[in-house]
Amino acid sequence: KKQDMSVGPTDKGDFEHFMLKEIHEQPELIRSLTQFYFHGEGLESLKKAGSFKPSKFHMTACGTAYYAGLLIRDFLETYNKIPCAPELASEFRYRNPLLIEGESGLFISQSGETADTLAAQELCTESKLKTLSIVNVDGSTLFRNCDNNLLIRAGIEIGVASTKAFTQQVLTGRLLSLALSDELSEESKRVKLTSKFSLLAEKIDHLISRSKEIKDIAESVYNHKGFFYTGRGIYYPVALEGALKLKEIAYVHAEGYAAGELKHGPIAMIDEDMVNVALVGPELFEKTVSNIQEIKARKGVILTIGPKDHEELEELSDYYFGIDFDGLEELSPIYINIVNQLLAYYIAKYKGTDIDKPRNLAKSVTVE
Ligand code: G6P
Repeated sequence: KKQDMSVGPTDKGDFEHFMLKEIHEQPELIRSLTQFYFHGEGLESLKKAGSFKPSKFHMTACGTAYYAGLLIRDFLETYNKIPCAPELASEFRYRNPLLIEGESGLFISQSGETADTLAAQELCTESKLKTLSIVNVDGSTLFRNCDNNLLIRAGIEIGVASTKAFTQQVLTGRLLSLALSDELSEESKRVKLTSKFSLLAEKIDHLISRSKEIKDIAESVYNHKGFFYTGRGIYYPVALEGALKLKEIAYVHAEGYAAGELKHGPIAMIDEDMVNVALVGPELFEKTVSNIQEIKARKGVILTIGPKDHEELEELSDYYFGIDFDGLEELSPIYINIVNQLLAYYIAKYKGTDIDKPRNLAKSVTVE
């Protein structure tokens, strides 16, 4: 179903749940984020954020925002060669982390009100670090307390399970890394990047139009006892996020694991009632395939989200969702993550849970 733009942010429109509506909003939000930062009033704030090159970033966040931050860590280290230490805000704040002037605190948050993230920010400021947020809510406490902010412009997110905020956080992090390497000063470069981002938006539109395929897979697997999401490199944070989404809304035991780490313990749990959601993108392809073979040999059910038209991988898998990654290598985790969002959504729907307001969870955790 195409997003109906006449529907307001607090209205579900024709969608059964806010979560589904928010998943569908993603292509349009990507386009408007690009427009804002490459060709609109956001350009100056992005250039300003990129003008301070710290000796190191300390990235802290909670939940989904933390997993987005893990991808941002990869961007900063790969493209900017700036060390970035990721840490959960609830751990960082009580650990006496080594913070040195010239370094920067980086905070990722949808609400800008998460108590642990705010405490981590305060700790950095006390240690004289510059602080930068990647945040959704303009004027939130985090926004007010940081020296600098990059808004992710996701609009209001109502579903407790965060979807569109993750995508916008990762993209804004990629923009930060481009700004840090001065790649945004020339108009011609920004135009090139704009087409890359619109390709992502276009492909996500297409992917969402294939929701029925994901729903069918969900119908076949939703009664299994557990799920291991596995990935390597840039797909590992997406494995963590995919498992979190399923736990949050479907109340099914799910774990995100680095594919190469399974053999150090969790593989003992694999049997015919366990599903391995194998996330396979263009990076580290062969290595990940050999991990899938290990699980297959233990009779695990293999659900692969991987490159389209790959016969060997399809044969190995019980369920296969093929994706065309061409032109999208560095953004491929975002793309895979959207399949995971839909998979969790449909599994939860078959389970009959309260998708927009899962039990025991709050949209924003403002107390410890
Ligand atoms: C809560 C929400 C999560 C969110 C996390 C961090 O646990 O249920 O969806 O990822 O808080 O929230 P923030 O607003 O800081 O991104």
